[in-house]
Amino acid sequence: MSIVNAKRNMLEAPFLKQMMQATQNMWRLGWDERNGGNVSVILDEEEVAPYIEKGSAIRTISLDFPVPELAGKYFLVTASGSYFKNIIDNPEELLGIIQVADGGNELDIIWGFANGGKPTSELPSHFMSHIVRLEHDENHRVIMHNHATNVVAMTFTHELDEAAFTKSLWQMESECIIVFPDGVGLLPWMIPGTTEIGKETAKKMNEYRLVVWPHHGIFGTGSSIDDAFGLIETAEKAAQIYMLIHSHRGGVKQVITDDQLSVLAEAFGVIPKPGILQLTK
Ligand code: 13P
Ligand code: ZN
Repeated sequence: MSIVNAKRNMLEAPFLKQMMQATQNMWRLGWDERNGGNVSVILDEEEVAPYIEKGSAIRTISLDFPVPELAGKYFLVTASGSYFKNIIDNPEELLGIIQVADGGNELDIIWGFANGGKPTSELPSHFMSHIVRLEHDENHRVIMHNHATNVVAMTFTHELDEAAFTKSLWQMESECIIVFPDGVGLLPWMIPGTTEIGKETAKKMNEYRLVVWPHHGIFGTGSSIDDAFGLIETAEKAAQIYMLIHSHRGGVKQVITDDQLSVLAEAFGVIPKPGILQLTK
């Protein structure tokens, strides 16, 4: 479909409304203090076409991490420095639609980022993770980063071993193994906003849809905003329970056992990441 005759008001676009709602919810949940967190959503050309004039780039930004794999793709992205609290009232400044230019060395800003704004500082992690997730899932669309409080808290008190961390989350709530049977990836502490953390996050995305940055936050992925949000929400709830029970004076008296997790996974037709559960039978 061609993008000529674009007439509709972008503020009416369903994808924009969803982003405004989701970022507001993330802020209300306490995951996105100040400018914490960022979201990027792949938009199909057909979705964007009714709202923009083809070839109508507002400005162009160069990328110091070329992404030829994403050339031509459209993204709805949060602005660097955007307070999620304010996006709902000021989307045109705090959100933007970009298209990766031919060759993947530049971005065309198609809409938004009014007053000179630019995409999130975590764009390297978002773009590189999009590339990897698309290799594994053609329906992949969303990368969502935030500072989910209890997941971050857990990275101070729990050993930073992926299998052990995954199992602790699985044990906290019966939903967890069903929602993320592939587990949770963990990076060492790294400087945010860099190409290096982008590369390491993307490597983890080969195996995981959820990646934790210790003492910082979480990256969730999905086929929709709801899908990525739900994944983070489930891990964060489990981490909240973990933190609650581990600060309880009586200590932990019982957990969901490995055998129980195994029958649970079987009942819901998911395959838990191998090597985490130790079964007695
Ligand atoms: P941005 O405001 O640049 O998106 O950065 C926020 C953040 O969470 C960095 O990790
Ligand atoms: Zn962050």
